[in-house]
Amino acid sequence: MTMSGPKTVPPFAVISGAQVQRALAGQEKQITELVEATYRLHGAGDSVNPPSYFLRFPDRPSDRIIALPASIGGQLRVDGLKWISSFPGNVAAGIPRASAVLILNDHDTGYPFACLESSIVSATRTAASAAVAADWLTRGRPRPTRVGFFGVGLIARYIHTFLAGTGWSFDEIGVHDLSAEHAAGFSGYLEEAGSGRITVYEDAEQLIRSSDLVVFATIAGEPHVSDLSWFGHNPVVLHVSLRDLAPEILLASTNLVDDVEHCLKASTSPHLAEQLTGSRDFLAGTLDDVMAGRVTVPADRPVVFSPFGLGVLDLAVGKYVYDEVTRAGELHVIDDFFHELRRYAPGPA
Ligand SMILES: NC(=O)c1ccc[n+]([C@@H]2O[C@H](COP(=O)([O-])OP(=O)(O)OC[C@H]3O[C@@H](n4cnc5c(N)ncnc54)[C@H](O)[C@@H]3O)[C@@H](O)[C@H]2O)c1
Repeated sequence: MTMSGPKTVPPFAVISGAQVQRALAGQEKQITELVEATYRLHGAGDSVNPPSYFLRFPDRPSDRIIALPASIGGQLRVDGLKWISSFPGNVAAGIPRASAVLILNDHDTGYPFACLESSIVSATRTAASAAVAADWLTRGRPRPTRVGFFGVGLIARYIHTFLAGTGWSFDEIGVHDLSAEHAAGFSGYLEEAGSGRITVYEDAEQLIRSSDLVVFATIAGEPHVSDLSWFGHNPVVLHVSLRDLAPEILLASTNLVDDVEHCLKASTSPHLAEQLTGSRDFLAGTLDDVMAGRVTVPADRPVVFSPFGLGVLDLAVGKYVYDEVTRAGELHVIDDFFHELRRYAPGPA
């Protein structure tokens, strides 16, 4: 027996980036709580989150489009797919690297009922998950007052917004980027946001040595940070870009991931560490393990959180946006989207 009502074809809505941004603006606390709850739900097995599918192009090796299908049970009850492109060359042309749509599917009929602009949803859930990790992974140590951003594009900006929006304030903010122009652009944003003292480090080593919380958000395809001595002060590292750290750094750290099966793939640094050692013993567990008290995080080693990025988070945030837009009475429904509805007669029901 199902708990659902009579089956009907849902209306199909399109939600623009402007609507997504309005629905999420200033909601850092709510979204962080939602992401935390979704991690718990996923940890409890109340979700389906198959491996992401990477579409790559032999003639364009730096570009990719990733499909993230997922299903959430519990009270959220929504299925769907994020389809997200990464074309790093876009940035030089003045447009964002990533672009995306999110399709939400009805739990009862399977019908897609919404298509959302999703680069904002994606950046938001990524930043929220970084804020959740920063909170939980620093509980057993003095709260960091010095943060360092390593690679400062759109994701770094969202992560800073989420840290600030969930109660963090910093005395010192370090910035490092291969591009002086990007470092300057991000510093300009920080100044407007009214943060602590901002220092741009040309030298990656100085950035890391000067930060108790380090955020990696580069687009590096392989490790470029390998000197363990840079981490001698045992910082908490949010390794959001996944491929910056040499496996040796991970092997000397406490490692947390969002999902083990997901993260040990696609030449991420944890994947390289597994290949190097032939085991997963270097992993302490997942962020959900930490939240549930199954894993404690020692203060006398570096801590590295490598979040692969789970489709369930996009779904949870996308559904939140859908509900907010619906509540505001601003849902743009596409009339007649589902049209061929009578089994043996052409046209609408
Ligand atoms: N784990 C997740 O869930 C998740 C989700 C979204 C994005 N990401 C990742 O976050 C990263 C950043 O995304 P974005 O949209 O901000 O990209 P972006 O292109 O806007 O910015 C990346 C910045 O990193 C800089 N950079 C590149 N290589 C560097 C290096 N070796 N050292 C220092 N700086 C370097 C670039 O100059 C650029 O300013 C990407 O790798 C993306 O895949 C991860």
